[in-house]
Amino acid sequence: MDGEIRVPIDSDADIVIARQQGRALAERLGFSATDQTIIATAISEVARNIIKFAKRGEIVLNKVMKNPEHGIAVTARDQGPGIADIQLALQDGYSTGNGLGMGLPGCKRLMDELEIKSSKGNGTIVTMKKWTM
Ligand SMILES: Nc1ncnc2c1ncn2[C@@H]1O[C@H](COP(=O)(O)OP(=O)(O)OP(=O)(O)O)[C@@H](O)[C@H]1O
Ligand SMILES: [Mg+2]
Repeated sequence: MDGEIRVPIDSDADIVIARQQGRALAERLGFSATDQTIIATAISEVARNIIKFAKRGEIVLNKVMKNPEHGIAVTARDQGPGIADIQLALQDGYSTGNGLGMGLPGCKRLMDELEIKSSKGNGTIVTMKKWTM
């Protein structure tokens, strides 16, 4: 039950699917309606970044356990251009894409944990977690 869910991200419609799948898993894991919305919003932001900067990639959703807590892990993975300066990318207002530059810093505030693995030319992996308590 609740094995890994993988959503390929190739178009705007896939962002909606990832968002819905994330919300549904969060509900099954016992997150409040508010937390379900928060998790869905963070998923939208990283999925949108995949489309915008890498064109395609995937979102992977998992249940995670850390006794006595459990939670949700969201991994956004792509093989796009990568991020040269991760600390800069996490700052409010930094955007190389004419955006508001609020997506990644917003995710960091919405979720309990956020980690980025990326380097120029090697794609990007954003892992985010939220715990039920
Ligand atoms: N998957 C990715 N691949 C390559 N670069 C990325 C990726 N995700 C984010 N970035 C880089 O990090 C910056 C900050 O991302 P963030 O989501 O915070 O802002 P944005 O997408 O530019 O604007 P907003 O999300 O507010 O519309 C981006 O402008 C881009 O340079
Ligand atoms: Mg963004």
